[in-house]
Amino acid sequence: MKLQILFLCAGAVLTVAAGGNRNADWPIVGGYHGTHYSPLNQINCNNVKQLERVWQFDSNDQFEGSEMQCNPLVLDGVVYATTPRLRVVALDGATGKLIWDFDAHRGEKITQKLRNRGMAWWGAGDERRLFVGIDQYIYALSTKTGKPVESFGDHGRIDLHVGLGDEFKDLTVQATSPGVVYKDLLIQGTLVAEDLPAAPGHIRAFDVHTGQMRWIFHTIPLPGEYGYNTWPKDGYKKLGGANSWAGLTLDEKRGIVFAPTGSASFDFYGANRLGDNLFANCLLALDAATGKRIWHFKLVKHDIWDRDLPAAPTLVQLHKNGKTIDAVAQITKYGWVWIFDEKTGKPLVHYRKIKAPPSDVDGEVTAKEQILPTEPPPYARQEVTPDILTNRTPAAHAAVLAQYQKLRVGPQFTPPSFQGTVIFPGFDGGGEWGGAAWDPETGVLYVNSNEMAWILRIIPRSLGTGAITGSTLYRQNCSGCHRPDLQGSPPEFPSLVNIGSRLNRDQITAMIQHGGGRMPGFGRLGDGAVRVIVDFLMTGKDVPLDGAEHMKVTNLSPLKYGIDGYNRWLDPDGYPAVAPPWGTLNAIDLNTKKFVWKEPFGEYPKLAAQGMTKTGSENYGGSILTAGGVLFIGATNYDRKFHAFDKKTGDLLWETTLPAAGNATPAVYEVNGREYVLIGAGGGKWGAPSGGSYVAFALREK
Ligand code: HEC
Repeated sequence: MKLQILFLCAGAVLTVAAGGNRNADWPIVGGYHGTHYSPLNQINCNNVKQLERVWQFDSNDQFEGSEMQCNPLVLDGVVYATTPRLRVVALDGATGKLIWDFDAHRGEKITQKLRNRGMAWWGAGDERRLFVGIDQYIYALSTKTGKPVESFGDHGRIDLHVGLGDEFKDLTVQATSPGVVYKDLLIQGTLVAEDLPAAPGHIRAFDVHTGQMRWIFHTIPLPGEYGYNTWPKDGYKKLGGANSWAGLTLDEKRGIVFAPTGSASFDFYGANRLGDNLFANCLLALDAATGKRIWHFKLVKHDIWDRDLPAAPTLVQLHKNGKTIDAVAQITKYGWVWIFDEKTGKPLVHYRKIKAPPSDVDGEVTAKEQILPTEPPPYARQEVTPDILTNRTPAAHAAVLAQYQKLRVGPQFTPPSFQGTVIFPGFDGGGEWGGAAWDPETGVLYVNSNEMAWILRIIPRSLGTGAITGSTLYRQNCSGCHRPDLQGSPPEFPSLVNIGSRLNRDQITAMIQHGGGRMPGFGRLGDGAVRVIVDFLMTGKDVPLDGAEHMKVTNLSPLKYGIDGYNRWLDPDGYPAVAPPWGTLNAIDLNTKKFVWKEPFGEYPKLAAQGMTKTGSENYGGSILTAGGVLFIGATNYDRKFHAFDKKTGDLLWETTLPAAGNATPAVYEVNGREYVLIGAGGGKWGAPSGGSYVAFALREK
């Protein structure tokens, strides 16, 4: 057993309930305080080149379009992780051998993408339970057996609809990111649908023993609550979203939980939610024991750009005039880092007010003013201009320039439009759910970022005046995500072309009625309407609704406008419409507010083979920084690489190719004196192949 020297920084005393080897394990998804930092240093900048693969666990649970975003937990040398079908597995951390598994779906065939970014856990004495979000439930599993803990909720699980209100009981609510455990509370945010009807994103705490709800914070306030007047009067009964889907960060000493929230649903047209919409698009600081609001900071008013706060924030220390300030750093999709005083919520970056233009979409009222930081500089370009359009080939440039001339382009907060508004960075950032890593020794924050422009185009949802048929209902309710031509934007929004060959009538009907993931349910349209939509999708036959069913549908008043799809702006060959970098890795000193380094991140193997290297690419999944001075990250979609960078210079020290893209945050841990780096290789992003393996690396044993 080698002697382990630990660099524990000021304030970073790891406290983990019920034992566990707190330095050797990886006991919190996203790391202690959201820092993505491991105090292990056996692997360092000098020896990282000698890393070798020591084990690989192939779940073989992948299917077309599946992903695996899980940051594994490691407790006493045992790895706990989820697979693409959300089977929970316990693996020996030294060998990768399966200890137990739990499949909530009992082997049933899964075709829809399921998402899980990791698990939370609680323990006392020698008992430990894992909390994992699967479908609309949170299961409590015994770490010993992998079996549901009978005394928790309903035979080991709780339904996430509890406490939301009857209006929302059939709508999508899922816990795709893990909660945090504070004393005997599991504090949890949720994913809800992005179009109406959607459940509200209230943040809740559940008793770790019984599963009972102990508190609820209304992110869409009820009458009499702070923020209620930033919505229409009865909005709280019908509106949804404002949810904290990306995960929470806990300061267990102060008893504060930090929750980043997303936009209100429907994301892109807010005529039925006029007002600033508190607590959507906020960083919230809540009393972890009671759920009471301590402070909040609103980043975007009346969001119609899908500017969710995309990652759990990072608790950091800043140094100013000899003083240390505890602060919270929040990355964003639009490419800026915000920093707040942890106790007061006061911004610790300078920022400016911006006059925001009005919308020309009828019914929409944009906020007159928005804010943006002025430091540190953004980690992604902010506006598409002709000089940054792609020059990959003359033909690509010409095609993209012709589109550019027809689109609406402008700075952040340029409103959505019928002609199509360029959103840059796009709906997936800038920053995304992978989050940032922070170095307590130097105060540097590491952020991986996308630089993809997207096109947001508003279209009417009207049913027209003629007969209501499967296709008119489809156009009104479905085309915004699955596109008017049924092609979708796979894998995020699946294609429905020939859906009948993949799913049977019952499966399609159930999906339409109840929704799933980011898709709302449409049960309220009535059985007849659902039936003609299914007919249309399965057979192409366009059956009209009869009188009574017709009335039912027309009496519902859906929003007047939708969108024509989630469109990444690509050139005719499928590469980004803007010039590289298409993805970057950034090191930002939070004290000086200056960049330490910035590198293109990722490649397209096909372009690299033609000599077009270092373009950067889209990337999903976070990094881990170690006390050995190494930044580990997979994330890049197309080259499937797992990379190790020198934290000081950004130099690439080592890389290896994974079985599928490592679109997940790694875990760093130690068993029997040996340090391991582990990453899930789940791929499946934007047409990349899916995988289902966990791969562990370590130095060769002497
Ligand atoms: C807000 C976006 C959105 C809207 C609106 C929407 N869907 Fe979906 N749909 C999705 C997403 C996202 C998925 C993938 C589900 C998942 O991730 O669990 C999906 C999945 C599906 C599937 C399953 C596809 C498969 O390959 O497994 C069907 C069928 C479907 N949708 C039909 C519809 C129909 C019909 C409508 C309109 C009545 C509709 N959707 C409206 C986003 C949407």
